[in-house]
Amino acid sequence: MRHPAVHIAPPRGKLGVLLVGLGAVSTTFITGVYAIRKGLAKPVGSLTQLGTIRLGKRTEHRSPAIRDFVPLAGLEDLVFGAWDIFADNAYEAARTAGVIETGLLDRLRPELEAITPWPAVFDRRCVKRLDGPNVKRGSKRDLVEQLRADIRGFARSRSVERLVVLWCASTEAFMREGPAHCSLAEFERALDAEDATITPSMLYAYAALQEGVPYANAAPNLGVDTPALVELANERHVPVAGKDLKTGQTLLKTIIAPGLKARLLGVSGWYSTNILGNRDGEVLEDPECFKTKEVSKKGVLDYILQPQLYPDLYGKLCHMVQINYYPPRGDNKEGWDNIDLFGWLNYPMQLKINFLCRDSILAAPLVLDLALFLDLAARANRSGIQEWLSFYFKSPMHAAGLYPEHDLSIQLKKLKNTLREWRGEALVTHLGAEYYG
Ligand SMILES: NC(=O)c1ccc[n+]([C@@H]2O[C@H](COP(=O)([O-])OP(=O)(O)OC[C@H]3O[C@@H](n4cnc5c(N)ncnc54)[C@H](O)[C@@H]3O)[C@@H](O)[C@H]2O)c1
Repeated sequence: MRHPAVHIAPPRGKLGVLLVGLGAVSTTFITGVYAIRKGLAKPVGSLTQLGTIRLGKRTEHRSPAIRDFVPLAGLEDLVFGAWDIFADNAYEAARTAGVIETGLLDRLRPELEAITPWPAVFDRRCVKRLDGPNVKRGSKRDLVEQLRADIRGFARSRSVERLVVLWCASTEAFMREGPAHCSLAEFERALDAEDATITPSMLYAYAALQEGVPYANAAPNLGVDTPALVELANERHVPVAGKDLKTGQTLLKTIIAPGLKARLLGVSGWYSTNILGNRDGEVLEDPECFKTKEVSKKGVLDYILQPQLYPDLYGKLCHMVQINYYPPRGDNKEGWDNIDLFGWLNYPMQLKINFLCRDSILAAPLVLDLALFLDLAARANRSGIQEWLSFYFKSPMHAAGLYPEHDLSIQLKKLKNTLREWRGEALVTHLGAEYYG
C-alpha cells in the first residue's frame, strides 16, 4: 500500500551538532566525521552512510542508498559544538579518551583543536566519581538560560541553519520518574523551586527543546524521557529520541534472544559480565550510576522473551548483568555472556559469547545516524518521540501504555518502513504472496 509522500524540507546550509559531553564517544564521532570527509576512512557502522533500502517488489531490483532516498544533511555540512566539565579541546579530549591512534588525531589536529567546550551544567550528586572545573553557576533557571544562549550564540556565529543536541555525557545516578516529571507545569514549578530531581540532563533537554532543537539521549539516565519533556517536545513541535545507545553486549542480546525465541527454545539463565577501563567504566563504578545502566541493560530480555506469554520457556529466567571497571582495557570492553538454554524434553544446552569490542567505535556511527535522522525528522515536520529510531537504543522511548520494541530486526524494519512511508513508497511487509499467483 502506498501513502502520499510527506513534505520534507531540503537540508539547506549547515547543521550544527551540539554534544553534551566531549568524552570518548563524542570525540570518536567527531574525529571519524573529519577523517571520512578527508577520504581517510569509510563510515563503517553507519546506516545513513552505507545502508540501502529495498523499494517495491523483489523483482524490481530497486535498492537505493538510504542517503540518496531521503534528503539527509551531508557530512561536509556538519559543524560541531560541545559542553564538558573539562575545558580540554577535542584534540586533547580524544588523546585522553585513547580510542583513536595519535597518528590519525595529529592529521586532524587543527580541526579538533578548534572545538573547545562551553562550561557544563553539572551536579556532582548525579555523577559522584567525576568533578571538573569547567562548569556554569547559577539557579536552575539561570543555567537553562545560559545553555540557551550557548545554542543561539553558536547558531549565529557559525551560521548554521539547523541544530541537533545529543547527550553523550556520563550516566547520571539512577532516578525514578517522580512528581516533578509528570507534566510540563510540574517540571517548571520544580525547576523554579531548585528541586533536586531536575538533573543536568533534563536542563540540557529543556533548553534545547525551548530553542526548538531536536534532542537525543545516548545514555540511560532519564533526560528527555519524561512525560514533562515529551509534552514540551510536542508543544514546541520538536522530535526527540532515546535512550542509551545499543552497542556491544545488548546489541548481541537483541539479535540472539529473538532467534532463540523464534525456535521456542527455553532460556533459564543469561549471565552477562563486562570489563571496561574508560571513564564511562569509572563513572559506572558508582552503584547509583550503575543502577541506571543495569535497568537499561536488563529490560531487553523481559520484553523480547515475554515470560508472561511463554511461562514454560522463560518464566524462570535468571538474568544478571555486571560491569567491572578494569583500567588496563581502556575503551576496549570485553564482554562475556553465558546463556543456559534448553530444548526438546528440557535437555540443557549452553551458549558462550565472548565479545572483544570497542565501545566508542561501535557508538560513534550511531551518534552520526541519530544526528542526521533527527534533523531529517524535524524537516519532515515530526515531533515528540521518534519510535522508528528504537533501532539505536537499549531502552527505546515509547508512548505511554506501549511496551518498547527491542528486537533489532523489527526495529530495522520499522525504521525503513518509516522512510518508505515518508517518501510515498509501498511498505515492505515481507508477505511475498504477490510472487505466487
Ligand atoms: N558504546 C558506548 O560507548 C556507549 C553505549 C551506550 C551508552 N553510552 C553512554 O554514553 C555516554 C558517554 O560515554 P563515553 O564513553 O564517551 O564516556 P566519557 O566518560 O568518555 O565521556 C563523558 C563526558 O561527559 C562529561 N560530562 C559529564 N557530565 C557532564 C555534564 N553534566 N555536562 C557536560 N559534560 C559532562 C565528562 O566530563 C566526559 O568528558 C555515557 O553515559 C555512556 O554510558 C556509551
